[in-house]
Amino acid sequence: AHQWRGVIREYADRLPVTESTRIITLGEGGTPLVHAQKLSELTGSTVYLKVEGMNPTGSFKDRGMTMAMTAAVEAGAKAVVCASTGNTSASAAAYATSAGLTCAVLVPEGKIAMGKLSQAIAHGATLLQVDGNFDDCLEIARKLADTYPVFLVNSVNPARIEGQKTAAFEIVDALGDAPDIHVLPVGNAGNISAYWKGYKEYATETTYSFPKGGADGADSAPAEPRTLPAVSTRLPMMWGFQAAGAAPFVAGHPITHPETIATAIRIGNPASWETAVAARDESGGLIDAVSDDEILSAHRWLSSKEGVFVEPGSAASVAGLLKMHEAGKVPQGKTIVCTVTGHGLKDPQWALKTAAGEDVEPVKVGNDVVSVAAALGLESAA
Ligand code: F0G
Repeated sequence: AHQWRGVIREYADRLPVTESTRIITLGEGGTPLVHAQKLSELTGSTVYLKVEGMNPTGSFKDRGMTMAMTAAVEAGAKAVVCASTGNTSASAAAYATSAGLTCAVLVPEGKIAMGKLSQAIAHGATLLQVDGNFDDCLEIARKLADTYPVFLVNSVNPARIEGQKTAAFEIVDALGDAPDIHVLPVGNAGNISAYWKGYKEYATETTYSFPKGGADGADSAPAEPRTLPAVSTRLPMMWGFQAAGAAPFVAGHPITHPETIATAIRIGNPASWETAVAARDESGGLIDAVSDDEILSAHRWLSSKEGVFVEPGSAASVAGLLKMHEAGKVPQGKTIVCTVTGHGLKDPQWALKTAAGEDVEPVKVGNDVVSVAAALGLESAA
């Protein structure tokens, strides 16, 4: 009786849907907010991880995709398109299948993790590998949607941001108020924009009037405006972290050739530039960079100390927190939430390297208990 119903049904009164909307959902959201014991001990603040890898396709993109695909259906679309560093394509492919739409995805050739590639193919998307980077793919996808009958499901579609803001709602609902600091990885910058929108809506009495009713402003019947009371009493500071080789917000301008092992956030020209800068500045927060080594070390921290397996891009948030801690800039006694955006199984190869970068070889043993006990250094208790 208490099955989570997906973010649209759970937060229907704060999203651009009406009672007649056909909702496309795979049960996304409702992800765990895990108390990070070791990070809390280290920093002296209470640190939680919002584990977005627990979404149906293994990343936070599903929150936005349920809204985007619902909007696509509402707009009468037959085909959707997106550019992606991998996770958006996996999510779009799955939700398009559920909606009965065809899906094309544009990805940078050779720069997306195997798990994500497999998902897009498994769900029957037409996968096109572009001889270029994510920014090139997004430009083509936007032009394609402008000129041809395909519906764009990247986060430049406002429906995506609407869906993704629900993560902030869930955190406030779980903690009873907003955290003091919210830390997350920044790539195309849709997610930091979405969280900030969600936190702001929850912190003030908000009137929702989606003028045209449709999830994408499609011309369905106007929804009744509804005014909802504030849920939280405060706003968090937003701390965003980019990979050092792909850090346009730190540079203050787009980067032409972004590079990082964290392929999810290998982005040089973020689409949601202004809204991300607003999130940073309005919240009194920051957007800084972390090196690939810091990302991999946070990735190892999470798996080996907290029991949470994420993909490298996701670990940028925790890498940022660790960096701020080392610089003495993490306040004590506060509540801090780090979003970890995607599952470790998306891109598992990084777990098979030591901190020194050497391959980890599994130990081979004989097919008997004595060999196994010896390999474990056990002595017989008998
Ligand atoms: N973490 C992961 C695992 C991602 O896949 C992405 C973005 C981000 C963080 C950054 O989020 O773009 O909202 O700032 N991935 C997109 C994709 C670009 O195509 O899957 P953002």
